[in-house]
Amino acid sequence: MRNILVTGGIGYIGSHTTIELLEKDYNVVILDNLSNSDIRIKDRIEILSGKKIKFYEGDILDNSILNKIFEGENIDTVIHFAAYKSVGDSVKMPLEYYNNNINGTVNLLRAMKRYDVKNIIFSSSATVYGEAKVMPVSEKTPLMTPTNPYGKTKSMMEEILTDVYKSDNSWNVVLLRYFNPVGAHKSGLIGEMPNGIPNNLMPYISKVAAGELEYISVFGDDYKTIDGTGVRDYIHVVDLASGHVKALNKIEEKCGLKIYNLGTGNGYSVLQVIKAFEKAANKKINYKIVERRSGDIGTCYADPKLAKEELGWEAKYEIDKMCEDFWRWQCTGLKSLIEDEVLV
Ligand code: NAD
Ligand code: UFG
Repeated sequence: MRNILVTGGIGYIGSHTTIELLEKDYNVVILDNLSNSDIRIKDRIEILSGKKIKFYEGDILDNSILNKIFEGENIDTVIHFAAYKSVGDSVKMPLEYYNNNINGTVNLLRAMKRYDVKNIIFSSSATVYGEAKVMPVSEKTPLMTPTNPYGKTKSMMEEILTDVYKSDNSWNVVLLRYFNPVGAHKSGLIGEMPNGIPNNLMPYISKVAAGELEYISVFGDDYKTIDGTGVRDYIHVVDLASGHVKALNKIEEKCGLKIYNLGTGNGYSVLQVIKAFEKAANKKINYKIVERRSGDIGTCYADPKLAKEELGWEAKYEIDKMCEDFWRWQCTGLKSLIEDEVLV
């Protein structure tokens, strides 16, 4: 099984995963509508890997392009990243989120069924655990309905994929629950490109370090954590990417339905991340403690044992490396995209 369709492959996690796949000699076909990504990332993927990828600019909601890909590319497996992912936007625009994420996934699955392609790896999220009572969260931790439409789309898509598998056991479905992806490729050429002012912690800190924003607001210091600030399981995006290659190996064994947490098992507080980033960037990062952000939970980190046992995968990179790589991307790859400089 060598021909992989990567939906959303120009995006943050998709681009890093594509590089890992090309390194392992998979043939990659990308379908992306570029709604949250930049086509210049495609050239950078090709430069970094020294290989060509087949790229279709288009939408998972568009049957004509899906038919064309499945008819022409001999796809074995789909890695499905394409989705909208902003928690805040999803509250303001629930219909756009349900349409893109849910209808898009259903449309993709129907196309896969038409062409008898029954292997899929799906990008899920730790958000499906909600505010779990016991840490770390394992795959057996009871699920809770997320508080926002984005999170709900992830829970619903997990259910849809599970029902598809139940209806026909010849499908192989791997649901990967990501914790908090951060960092960037070590080259600094590809990384996360948030639209406008970032919502997530590390992209925001990075902009403060770059002098683009004055300070970071720390949302609450009265959680039951080491220093009162929120604790999360940050995972290097390259570790996350390699988890997808391991999941593909599992699919090749005809695994049926499988669910894995992809996290490090370690939690870091907001203040600890700020400190690690100060070290990486060699800059002081100003912060202010403000009110808790509505919908936030205090602590969330993974029990990653199952992925280790069944996939032979575990995260390699520590928080310092995540910050160093993010900062390199901020100063080189991202800067050159914004300023439209030719870097490579
Ligand atoms: P991203 O926005 O960088 O990448 C998503 C890509 O999908 C973009 O290139 C976008 O242009 C494309 N896309 C969106 N809708 C599309 C459509 N209808 N048709 C074709 N292409 C479309 O996001 P990311 O951070 O790489 O996330 C990838 C996946 O992982 C998403 O499903 C996201 O929900 C999930 N996830 C992300 C995080 C995170 O913190 N980054 C955490 C958990 C889960
Ligand atoms: N935080 C701040 N200030 C900021 C941004 C974040 O203090 O400006 C804090 C948050 O309160 C939290 C921590 O930093 O304690 C991490 O926040 P992020 O927004 O980076 O990440 P979340 O854990 O809130 O959410 C992320 C993704 C969601 C996903 C969830 C679970 O953004 O899409 O992980 O996987 F659902």
